[in-house]
Amino acid sequence: MSKRRSIIEIPSLNAIDRTANVGRQLAQALRNAIARGELRSGERLPSTRSLAASLKIARGTVVEVFDQLTAEGYLQARVGSGTRVAADLIDATPALPPQPAVPSSADAVDLPSQAARLIAIARALTPHPPVPFAIAVPACGIAPDDNWRRLGNRVRASRQAAPSGYHDPMGLLELRLAIADHVRRARAVHCEPEQVIVTSGTQQGLYMAGRVLLSRDDAVWAEDPAYPGLTAVLDDLGVRTHRLPVDVQGMNVERGLELCPQARAAFVTPSHQYPIGMPLSMARRNSLITWADQNRAWIVEDDYDSELRYAGHPFPSMQGLRPSRVIYLGTFSKVLFPSLRLGYVIAPPPLAEAFAGARAILDRHSPIAEQHVLAAYMREGYFEAHIRRIRGLYAERRAVLLTALDRVLPEGCGVQQSDHGMHILLWLPEEVDDVQLAARALSAGLAVRAISPMYAAQPARPGLMLGFGGFLPDQLQAAVGELVKLLSQQMPQAGGPQQAEA
Ligand SMILES: Cc1ncc(COP(=O)(O)O)c(C=O)c1O
Repeated sequence: MSKRRSIIEIPSLNAIDRTANVGRQLAQALRNAIARGELRSGERLPSTRSLAASLKIARGTVVEVFDQLTAEGYLQARVGSGTRVAADLIDATPALPPQPAVPSSADAVDLPSQAARLIAIARALTPHPPVPFAIAVPACGIAPDDNWRRLGNRVRASRQAAPSGYHDPMGLLELRLAIADHVRRARAVHCEPEQVIVTSGTQQGLYMAGRVLLSRDDAVWAEDPAYPGLTAVLDDLGVRTHRLPVDVQGMNVERGLELCPQARAAFVTPSHQYPIGMPLSMARRNSLITWADQNRAWIVEDDYDSELRYAGHPFPSMQGLRPSRVIYLGTFSKVLFPSLRLGYVIAPPPLAEAFAGARAILDRHSPIAEQHVLAAYMREGYFEAHIRRIRGLYAERRAVLLTALDRVLPEGCGVQQSDHGMHILLWLPEEVDDVQLAARALSAGLAVRAISPMYAAQPARPGLMLGFGGFLPDQLQAAVGELVKLLSQQMPQAGGPQQAEA
């Protein structure tokens, strides 16, 4: 028997439903296996004859599927050496291809309603491959940097990374001290280390906040449009969400007071509204705090990228204005890198232990070795230096992107003004289907996010989020050219370049 694992052991291949289109399922299963790294670049596939025999399907079907995937660039066929997974796939984490529009075999079985909802969430939150304009891609050559690697080696060689028992669900004390120190200085957060709970990122922080603060059927406020990771959490918790429109001042708090003043919590991105980008005005911050005080409600502040501001001074955190009513969520995904999976909650003191409980029932705590590495990185001054460096680098890349867009944007498109973060927002003419455009862009090797699905109110304004942090200037310029080509196909009447929108 061959020492190599057989392709037939790939689980999705064995899940083929013979009552539906077998070729389409086989193609999708192979794409998924490649995307998940179950089949690696250069790996040889069995012959069409033996694969057909093992799967008990017609050889012609396998031949067609191989041809199709060769045309899509997943496979390469060479005379004399069979068919292999293409050698030049981007990296080990390419995009999962679009999900089949037709019901899969999983849809045919009697799924629990919760499972069906979670499948939809998995599809909506599928990460993008690291191609332009994916948002959360760390700057190449900068993060993780040499210091990060050196500290990692130091921790791994020490007792800090030795196998041990369970740790405190609040997180490693050294890291909580470093986080408290950072948010006090950088974000005017009022806190002690006892209020800091290390999380696996803001996504987990949002979920924990929901578990700690809300009961089923409670009413909450959220922005419209909003971060899909938040709306997925609120749906999952079974709360009644009132989506409040955003305008130039951010979330319309007055609308919340009209709709449902008795809401238990408001989820906001006050530093940099997601996805549009404006900060919540001081007047709205004050109204929100007054509402929370009067109704004994909570404000959940998602401060996901406030370190990345390119002009002027950021508004300080809302937490600093009312520490007793605000749950502050921070993350290392934007300033370091998302695969680190570390973030934090700063909870009012009476709630801190409840957050520890919420964390304990999820997964107890984050890996200790990574927490040691991050604590040392922060304590020894590398984190601040890193933020300063990427801020400069991202500012340059952002300027390159804005200039490139400004030259070629068709009439009717406009860039939303914002001086913050790792993405810019490109508004599209009303008749353009941003979801369809994003799907086409992905097939052409561009990862843009459509914003219309982030709106509850209909009709939603179409637009695209373009990330710039992880890409070199010439990559960004080339990608703008590609994007505009795709855009022109969707709006053939497009005129010449247009000035950016204020
Ligand atoms: C607005 C917003 N909130 C939360 C998150 C989740 O971040 P994390 O990687 O820390 O879970 C993101 C990630 O992109 C985000 O954009």
